[in-house]
Order: sequence, then C-alpha cells, then structure tokens
Amino acid sequence: MKNIFLSLVTLALLSSTAAVANDGSLKIMCGSVGKEFSLCMAGVKTCSQKLGFNAEAVPAVNGSNNRFSLYSQFFAGKSPDISIFQIDVTWPALLESHLVDLRPYVSEAETKEFIPLLINNNTINEKVLALPWFIDVGILYYRKDLLEKYNKPVPQTWEELFDTAAYIQKAERAAGNKNMWGYVFQGKAYEGLTVNAMEWLKSFGTNFYDADGNVTVNSLKAKEALKLFTSNIGKTIPIGVLNYAEEDSRGTFQSGNAVFMRNWPYSYNLAQAKNSQIKGKVGLSPLPKGGKTGNYAGALGGWQLAVSKYAPDKKKAAAMVKCLTGYTEQKRRAIEGGYTPTRNALHADKSIARKTTYLKYFGSNTDHFVQRPSRVTGRKYNQISAAIWNAFHKALSQGSKANTSNALDTLAKKMKNLTPKKQVRK
Ligand code: GLC
Repeated sequence: MKNIFLSLVTLALLSSTAAVANDGSLKIMCGSVGKEFSLCMAGVKTCSQKLGFNAEAVPAVNGSNNRFSLYSQFFAGKSPDISIFQIDVTWPALLESHLVDLRPYVSEAETKEFIPLLINNNTINEKVLALPWFIDVGILYYRKDLLEKYNKPVPQTWEELFDTAAYIQKAERAAGNKNMWGYVFQGKAYEGLTVNAMEWLKSFGTNFYDADGNVTVNSLKAKEALKLFTSNIGKTIPIGVLNYAEEDSRGTFQSGNAVFMRNWPYSYNLAQAKNSQIKGKVGLSPLPKGGKTGNYAGALGGWQLAVSKYAPDKKKAAAMVKCLTGYTEQKRRAIEGGYTPTRNALHADKSIARKTTYLKYFGSNTDHFVQRPSRVTGRKYNQISAAIWNAFHKALSQGSKANTSNALDTLAKKMKNLTPKKQVRK
C-alpha cells in the first residue's frame, strides 16, 4: 500500500515538473509557501538582469519531504533541467553526492559574511554545499485581542497555554464562535511534525538524542511532553490538526478560529495583511517552556540554495546563488516577506532588523534555537525523521487514550537500529 502511495506521489510530482521546458535558461527550483514563489521570481528577474543571462524560477511542491522526493527524481536521473535547488537545512549531508562544492566560486571571506551556525551546517566533509538563503525559527502566534479581552497573560509554559486555550475557547464558543479552537500546529505525518515534536521535547529539557548521540526520545520528560499534547487532542487542539501542514494551520488561525498557533515567521506578514481577518490582533512570543524549569525552544528551519552536480552551467548557477543570497536580495526579502536573513551584516543593521518579523521581535540571539539531528543521522536522516513523525502521529491520533510510554519506547528501538554507528562528520 505504502509503495503504491509512494509511486502515486512520485507520478504527481513528476507531472508537475514535466513543464520544465528546456529553453536554455538557467532554472531555479524554489518553494511556494505563502509569498515565497513571487519573492523568488522577483529575485531571479533582478539577478538575471544584473548577471546578463536568462534564468527562470520553477515552483517546487510544498512539504519538505515531498520536495525531497521530487528532487530525488531529478538527481536519480542526473537531470540537467534544474541547475539550482532550494534545499532544507537538514539536507546537506543527505544530498552530498549530488551537489557542487561551492568553494571554487565563493571565497572564504565571502562565506564568513554568513552566520557561522548556518555555514557550518552546510559544510560537509569540508565542502560548502549550499549558501544559506533564509532562517526559519518556530514561534508562538497568539490573539492579542483575545488575551486582552479575557485578561490572560501570554503563556510562559505549555500547561498555562492549554489552560488559557481551554478558557478562551469555551468563552468564545459560548459567545457564538462555534469554530473556535485553542491551539493549532503542524500535526500531519511529515517533516513538520518532527519539528514540532523536537520543540516539545526540548521545551521539557530533553531531545531525540543527547549530546553524545545516544537516543533519548523515550526519556521520562519526552513521555510527559507527548502526554500533554495527546491529551489535548479533540479538546483544545482540533482533531483536524492531524492533517495540518504550515498553510493549514495558518488558514485556521487567520480565519479567526484559533487562539494560539505554532508556525514560522513567514505567517506574520500574511496574518497582519490588509485582507486578513485578524489584522492588528496578532502577537508573537517564544514557544512556551515545558513546566517552569523547562526551556524556550524554537526549531531552526530554513532554506539554502545549492547547485546540482548535473547542472550544465555551474559557473552561472553559482553566480546566481551568490546574487540571490546576497545582501540586497536578502534585504528585500526581509522587508517584503518578513524572511529572516542569513547574513551577519543584516542582523547587525538595526534599521533592517526592525522590519524583519523575527529579528524585530526576538533579536539575533540564537541560544534557544534547536537543530534537528541531521548530522548524527547523516544519510539516514529522512528515515529517522519519518520514524519520528509516524510514531508521534499515531500517538496523537489516539488522543488521550495513547500510551505515550510504549509509543516512545518502540520509537527509541527503531531509532537505535537506524542511527549510523559512525557519526562524526567535519
Ligand atoms: C519550513 C522550514 C524547514 C522545515 C519545514 C517543515 O519550511 O524552513 O526547515 O523542514 O518547514 O515543514
């Protein structure tokens, strides 16, 4: 069944790319969540004029792991059709054999202009496999107007969040908004759920792995964290969340039907736009701690631009990557789309920071960022992440009946079997 489903996905993905015409222009495959694609097209237009050659943006499918399957088709066929791929922060090790080392095109001084954490992330076995394009960090969105109306503070712990969510949900439903829910996030069985799960664990002071690479997904804290979420399914969390990716949660929140939402920074400008039903009513805060002694934790996401080894025009492609990740382009994307830049100079410039959703509200301190275990897991990352999202999805779908202890013990065994023994990478 799974295989039939996979080949259907592959077919759909391939037909969506059949439109990649071989007209000689350099092709960049970029994302299309929210305003992403229009921003990419505008950037490609400006950079191609500046560089003096034709280039074209091609939309990729949404959903990190669907996108990975799509790219895998291009790479498996050594396709020369797409020269530049927008890759997730977790993929450099996975795609090492298909990407060009950019060092011949980018000097060391130029790489130093990017935030070190990101350049390190993209450097595998001493090869710079991609340049960072934008940072994502998980944040809490809340309805400022509703917290004020019911005289509730911004929750600092998950327990407090669910209490406030239940209180406001009940009161708003009684006042006529029958569709009101307390909390929405990305609960579909996909990469986005791995991200949320990691934030829950980290907020409770644990993680999928400890610092030495041992599996800790079944620690007592992890079990406690998962229990809190499963027991809220159908109560303050709509059951529909089990099928939500980023845009679905934004849809519910932006139509005024949720008090709290977890999402990436891109949602802010859209939720505050003229046509939004909650314009002027949105507040931002770090995701809550798991209990008073827990941590604030926001997953580090974000996308990079990489050149395919099968690109016919590697030099032009590298020049395009440099232009798109350059100062001017990133500044425009920050101002127009709220995307968080990856360049030190843009983080340091207060006038730009004020206009960038994330930097404006949270500053450039990266202490509470949590990285997914893509280094520990190397080429196994996708398989391990799938084991994580499937186990969490199954537990969430059982709601308060879920046995989170058994669920995480089983997951821990799977992860131990899948985790490569040799984990050290430069
Ligand atoms: C966002 C993040 C990316 C993450 C994905 C999960 O696109 O930038 O890193 O993997 O969401 O849905």
